[in-house]
Amino acid sequence: MAKVKSKWICQSCGYETAGYLGKCPECGTWGSFVEEVQNSIKPTNVSPQGIMNDTKPTLLSDIHVGEEVRVSTNIPEFDRILGGGLVQGSLVLIAGDPGIGKSTILLQTGGELCKNNKKVLYVSAEESASQVKLRSERLGINSDSLYIYPQINMENIRAEIENINPDVVVVDSIQAIYSQTISSSAGSVSQIRECCNILMQIAKNKNITVIIIGHVTKDGSIAGPKVLEHMVDTVIYFEGDKYKSYRILRSMKNRFGNTSEVGIFEMNSDGLHCVTNPNELFLNERSQGSIPGSAIVVTNEGTRPLLVEIQALVGTTPYPTPRRVTNGVDTSRLLQILAVLEKRVGLNLSKQDVYVNVMGGIEVDEPSADLGIALAVATCARDVVVDSQTVIIGEIGLSGEIHPVQNIEKRLNEAVLSGFKKAIIPYANKITSDKIEIVPVKRLIDAISACVCPAEK
Ligand SMILES: Nc1ncnc2c1ncn2[C@@H]1O[C@H](COP(=O)(O)OP(=O)(O)OP(=O)(O)O)[C@@H](O)[C@H]1O
Ligand SMILES: [Mg+2]
Repeated sequence: MAKVKSKWICQSCGYETAGYLGKCPECGTWGSFVEEVQNSIKPTNVSPQGIMNDTKPTLLSDIHVGEEVRVSTNIPEFDRILGGGLVQGSLVLIAGDPGIGKSTILLQTGGELCKNNKKVLYVSAEESASQVKLRSERLGINSDSLYIYPQINMENIRAEIENINPDVVVVDSIQAIYSQTISSSAGSVSQIRECCNILMQIAKNKNITVIIIGHVTKDGSIAGPKVLEHMVDTVIYFEGDKYKSYRILRSMKNRFGNTSEVGIFEMNSDGLHCVTNPNELFLNERSQGSIPGSAIVVTNEGTRPLLVEIQALVGTTPYPTPRRVTNGVDTSRLLQILAVLEKRVGLNLSKQDVYVNVMGGIEVDEPSADLGIALAVATCARDVVVDSQTVIIGEIGLSGEIHPVQNIEKRLNEAVLSGFKKAIIPYANKITSDKIEIVPVKRLIDAISACVCPAEK
């Protein structure tokens, strides 16, 4: 009898060993090793990327390719993060929290693609055909060229792709399907890797677009091996605040387009709708009039500027160590800004708790928001206000100087469109505009004196 080979595989990062280990030497996770029996798989002469192993080197100038074929999904926000549409022959991975709307967006995309005379195969490995039908009725999707295929066996899926010959295949989800070539259970690292490999080969060899849904782990990364993200062409994360109806699609990797691009949607009972003016969404909850501890910043999300309100609360602490609590801003970034405020502006916060919140539940990780955060904290501590018609843009250096930011014109245009009258910007970005009053500043202390005014009583 042939010897059964087995490996112990870390379910967190995919590290392999011959025996059990308590702690993974690669990623440091405890108790993550699971034994997986390996069947001998016949090696193919095609790599996962569809590259044959009998190729020859060719001069770059001698290579001729046809035009890159993109298919529009008819969903403008989805097209934006894909870099203009789905590229034929590409493998796209969409990951997100449970219930965020992954199946919804892909069913909607399927419906729209069918309107463009594309044949779509929706492999539903988590829900029955009738459950998908119920969702499609709620979303108002009715199409003759959208096939729903409840299946978890990779080999059957492959056969059905050969049979139907679709233009786009959606696999919902990669964690729920399994390949017979590997005896470990569905969702294990080896299964995910193998199924992704097979889907990659199908996409490249047949030149069809394959979109796979991936679950995320508790810490927010895609469940399964990191290699999954290397194998696919595009990685898109679905984010959102579970208490709000809007959702953000963020591209993390794109071999055919700009990364860090975001698409903003609103979830309603009839599906996800594109939000054409996100600034309205993020600023409409803004308190009327100027209040201490509030500043509007213009961050850059991919190619799109977004106006968001930063709120700060500063109060005397009852504890020996003051608290620094952030929501939507990196805490270490806030600590650095507070240190600069203490040292360069003379604002003593050593006995004060500081809370900083980005309104609308979005994450602001761009350094151009530094100045806005500093002004929100400074105005709250001194009980003064930033005029509510002012936007604040600038990165703060450790000596209190204001560094320039990218795309200043785009940011200012967006501020003008949203009705703002004044902008505090870095001196190095100085430009003139007749639509908005520009206040260029060199140092943090200048910015504070340029835009604060006494609070209305
Ligand atoms: N009738 C409804 N009205 C409004 N929103 C709804 C309705 N039904 C479902 N939803 C929204 O759709 C979400 C579920 O969407 P969907 O099934 O696409 O999520 P998912 O990311 O695929 O979840 P899972 O990880 O479980 O597969 C719900 O969390 C809810 O926000
Ligand atoms: Mg789902």
